[in-house]
Amino acid sequence: MAKIIGGITTSHIPAIGRAITLNLQETPYWKPFFDGYPPIRQWLGEKKPDIVVLFYNDHGLEFFLNKKPTFSIGVAPQYISDDEGWGIATIPPVTGETELSWHICNTLVEDEFDITICQEMKVDHGLTIPLQLMWPGNTYGHIKVIPVCINCEQHPMPSLKRCFNLGRSIAKAIETFDKDLNVVVFGTGGMSHQLDGQRAGFINKPFDLMCMNKIVNEPEDLFQYSVRDLVEQAGAQGPELNMWMGMRGALNGKVTELHRNYHIPISNTGAGTMLLENK
Ligand code: DHB
Ligand code: FE
Repeated sequence: MAKIIGGITTSHIPAIGRAITLNLQETPYWKPFFDGYPPIRQWLGEKKPDIVVLFYNDHGLEFFLNKKPTFSIGVAPQYISDDEGWGIATIPPVTGETELSWHICNTLVEDEFDITICQEMKVDHGLTIPLQLMWPGNTYGHIKVIPVCINCEQHPMPSLKRCFNLGRSIAKAIETFDKDLNVVVFGTGGMSHQLDGQRAGFINKPFDLMCMNKIVNEPEDLFQYSVRDLVEQAGAQGPELNMWMGMRGALNGKVTELHRNYHIPISNTGAGTMLLENK
């Protein structure tokens, strides 16, 4: 049977892609951020996952405000990055996975999640930057990626609880898939940030740290925060925490925290990096 071995959280901001291209990892601004990744890369190197289920949000590339699925899943054999306007370099295509992706879609619909199933999908920095961070030199081609896209751009947005339950249903699908595959789940984005308006640049470190603590063994405590609360506490783009909830819902009740890093600011965000292993 397929097995979920752990979960990883990471920022996805486009400026990281630019820093990678320009080799700025060791500069004073970027070093405290990039130093959060070697332990995770080492773990990935040891565990050699076959598949990444990657919770991300599409920032207007594939789904603009005129068509906005709440939840969408990719079932394509390949995904092309076609990011616009952030100055990030062209990178190799991302390898997809079709069989388990469709199995996940079947389970989600049985579990009454009305998803949008994508046989074609362009992907943006929300999906590609995390892969570039985990597999330097864009060496992610051997990993099969299943994109799970959550609307974090246009209200109304799903609740933290709903996203957690989406993750649970995805875990149920993976654990009933009759192939010996190791799966890692990524929760990308966050943490507190606001990119525009009067509070542009707003970051809430105490709230971010509280979320990181809770996500380990008491994720349900976070259900008390509505999307409106997230906007107030963590900025207009704070609802990106929903991707972390999807990731956490896909893990077991008990997990071991193997690594964490938190650094502010990276561009406009609080960058939270975590490695959680399934118990
Ligand atoms: C930034 C953060 C994001 O989540 C994003 O999608 C784009 C930019 C930033 O802080 O620069
Ligand atoms: Fe984002």
